[in-house]
Amino acid sequence: MTGRLPPRLLLWFIGLLGIALLTLFIVCVAFQIQESWQVMSFQSFPSKHLRLFSDKNDRSSLEYQFSAENKLNSSEELEHNSLQQSDVGDSSESGNDTKSDQESSDQAKSDQAKSNKANSTISSLKTVAKPTEPDFFGDQYATDDFPSQTNCPNNIRKHVPQTQFADMFLHNIPVLQWAKHFTPEEYKRLSQYRGAHGWGSVSAEVLNSSLGILNTPANWLMFDDWEKSANGSKCIRCAVVGNGGILNGTRKGKEIDAHHYVFRVNGAALKGFENDVGSRTSFYTFSTNTMRNSMRSYARVGYRGPPISKETRYIFLPDHDRDYILMKAASTHTAIATGPERSKKPPTYFGKDVTVEKFKIYHPDFIRYLRNRFLHSKLLKTGARRIYRPSTGAVMLLAAIHTCDQVDAYGFMTPDYSLYSDHYYDKQWHKVHFYANHDMRMEMRLWQELHKAGLMNLFMRK
Ligand SMILES: *[C@@H]1O[C@H](CO)[C@@H](O)[C@H](O)[C@H]1NC(C)=O
Ligand SMILES: *[C@@H]1O[C@H](CO)[C@@H](O)[C@H](O)[C@H]1NC(C)=O
Ligand SMILES: *[C@@H]1O[C@H](CO)[C@@H](O)[C@H](O)[C@H]1NC(C)=O
Ligand SMILES: *[C@@H]1O[C@H](CO)[C@@H](O)[C@H](O)[C@H]1NC(C)=O
Ligand SMILES: *[C@@H]1O[C@H](CO)[C@@H](O)[C@H](O)[C@H]1NC(C)=O
Ligand SMILES: *[C@@H]1O[C@H](CO)[C@@H](O)[C@H](O)[C@H]1NC(C)=O
Repeated sequence: MTGRLPPRLLLWFIGLLGIALLTLFIVCVAFQIQESWQVMSFQSFPSKHLRLFSDKNDRSSLEYQFSAENKLNSSEELEHNSLQQSDVGDSSESGNDTKSDQESSDQAKSDQAKSNKANSTISSLKTVAKPTEPDFFGDQYATDDFPSQTNCPNNIRKHVPQTQFADMFLHNIPVLQWAKHFTPEEYKRLSQYRGAHGWGSVSAEVLNSSLGILNTPANWLMFDDWEKSANGSKCIRCAVVGNGGILNGTRKGKEIDAHHYVFRVNGAALKGFENDVGSRTSFYTFSTNTMRNSMRSYARVGYRGPPISKETRYIFLPDHDRDYILMKAASTHTAIATGPERSKKPPTYFGKDVTVEKFKIYHPDFIRYLRNRFLHSKLLKTGARRIYRPSTGAVMLLAAIHTCDQVDAYGFMTPDYSLYSDHYYDKQWHKVHFYANHDMRMEMRLWQELHKAGLMNLFMRK
């Protein structure tokens, strides 16, 4: 076994390795040209141990994946390999990494003084980040003070102070953004953060014109039709449905559909799976990238695009400016002039008759808050920090926990995940994939803690 290789075999091996590397390089180059809208750059991320995105991803917008076995070791290696790269990459991303925490909180105080008048306040908050952590985290957020939509006597938010989440949880974090949020001050503040965590990847023009049309109550109220749906109830009960294989064969469909609202995400195929997962969709959460990936990958299992029904609302997770652009084009029935979704005709993903009242979009402060406080992954100390974000399913579930009175979660990852296929709709059983831009194990632990704390009820087989 351990004897020396014959020289000929060695030559073969080196030759094959060379060809493989060349192929990988070509694929990388082609990929980057095609996906030039991605915020991250391929070079800034070591490709060792990473396979190209295989289009199977449903939980993320990511182009890379690696197998579960490699996960810990590869991320350690990422940390090691990418130090110089992240030094370079992050200064453009987070503005000024050298600023101390003291300075940034002073900044927040003066911001607060300035914007109190404008009714768009920045609160200076107890920070969870360590004192040496850079502005990248930006653990200061806008606030929205809404009266609660219900008088539920026993809801999640009333229960939070008695749990270990008391200090992390902000009761007035804006979950959604809409017309009022686009101001020059807010643009300055949020442009510091890239991707889903801010407006750093979106021009002021796009924000102004896209957020500008989100000016109806349905764009800022999560449950805009609550008066019609309440049916005498004092509490909003939500079913939040992930796509995990754990749902296969459970016949939970009726129970899920019996909630006031049903949340779904990405490749949620329903046709043929109604017994297990239900058939209603009140809220469909996605980013343009994850939706398009799902449409490519899951057409075989019957996923043709976002669900369309009278009750369905669409919640964008804005990763890029393409999300703002698609949202505006879809709700105004106009063609898209630029970008991957460019079209001669208005987009039809959401049905021909969709109106602006059907669209909502998560506030970047909400995504950054979730990353900083609930899913502060070790990946943030690695080269993957620029691409890391909570998964789309995690944002959906935590948004429900911040808005619903009661939450039942189905199809999210549980400690016995290796017993189930990746998705309930997989044609063939295959094990759960892990992605470099999410920390699914950390999310799994968070679901356990939220369940034990009584802030949600997580469906588990055992
Ligand atoms: C990581 O590498 C060590 C040895 O270097 C090995 O024992 C361990 O099983 C690996 N962990 C994973 C998750 O592959
Ligand atoms: C970063 O902050 C330091 C000190 O506050 C300042 O001198 C420097 O100009 C800043 N750099 C950038 C790029 O803003
Ligand atoms: C601030 O918002 C409150 C309601 O949230 C409103 O009553 C008040 O008039 C607003 N103030 C300004 C200056 O817009
Ligand atoms: C936003 O758009 C409106 C017109 O829709 C325009 O009047 C306004 O000046 C724009 N604001 C900014 C900051 O670009
Ligand atoms: C409304 O409540 C009644 C009584 O609890 C129930 O029978 C009915 O099915 C509910 N309707 C809807 C649409 O949920
Ligand atoms: C779903 O369950 C059936 C019956 O137990 C099994 O044959 C099938 O492989 C499962 N499919 C997935 C994707 O887990």
